Amino acid sequence: MNKFEETNKELWNELTDVHIKSYGIDKFKNGKSTIDKIQLKEVGDVRGKSLLHLQCHFGLDTLSWAREGAIVTGVDFSEKSIAYADQLKEETNIKARFICCNIYDLKSYLDEKFDIVYTSQGIICWLKDLEKWAKIISDFLNPNGVFYIMEHHPIKDIFNDEKRGELEIIYPYFHSKEPTKWDDDSPDYSDETYIAKNPSYQWQWSLSDIINYLIKAGLQIEFIHEFDKLFYKALPDMKKDKYGWWYLPNYRNKIPLMFTLRAKKE
Ligand SMILES: C[S@@+](CC[C@H](N)C(=O)[O-])C[C@H]1O[C@@H](n2cnc3c(N)ncnc32)[C@H](O)[C@@H]1O
Repeated sequence: MNKFEETNKELWNELTDVHIKSYGIDKFKNGKSTIDKIQLKEVGDVRGKSLLHLQCHFGLDTLSWAREGAIVTGVDFSEKSIAYADQLKEETNIKARFICCNIYDLKSYLDEKFDIVYTSQGIICWLKDLEKWAKIISDFLNPNGVFYIMEHHPIKDIFNDEKRGELEIIYPYFHSKEPTKWDDDSPDYSDETYIAKNPSYQWQWSLSDIINYLIKAGLQIEFIHEFDKLFYKALPDMKKDKYGWWYLPNYRNKIPLMFTLRAKKE
């Protein structure tokens, strides 16, 4: 684990306590799934399939996939997140396995293959090496296994996220080896009253980086879909629709904010 990842892990340990209160755990405990209709349709029937969830945070999505019938394993490097995922699993009586490690070290912890490798919603920017990430996904998939990701579109990252009105480009779209340090007073994405104490280091990756590293790792892209809506409030003018998706009223159908991708191991 490098010094940037160590710092990021501290941030995610800090944020676990915040998100336990803001993620709607009570609704989940009462049976509500955190998997939206787009993912349910695009991932397809998971009943009886083994599913590896990379960067699972405290496992709400992992446990929701288990409720859909998958045999689930969730991985995250935040000790607090994984401890809470284990607690939730016990409290809800859902069968699941959680592993606490850096995804780049996963092969030292896990020696099996999966029907589905799944990851979603706020994960790419934490990855220092996307080529290795794609290789890890491919290595953990059974032949004909499926990889699925739902993620914010990297184009969203170029805009000034404090400015209202017309979108203003202030950040680069393309990848740099050195991460960007974030240490400002922006509120947390899930709890607008909370400002993180720990800084973070994040890497920008373009859409072609994501696609090309997956192809290079031996995956066949089945589809990539782009959406003008998002799973969280990333920009100040965003409004929520009746289904819980965030959109930019002045840019509907004009720019992508989110993508989904499904690929098959050859
Ligand atoms: C935005 S959250 C995951 C998204 C998840 N869908 C959610 O909202 O619950 C990002 C997660 O990535 C994890 N993470 C970041 N870098 C990681 C790494 N190198 N290895 C394992 N987990 C990592 C963090 O601990 C955090 O739980």
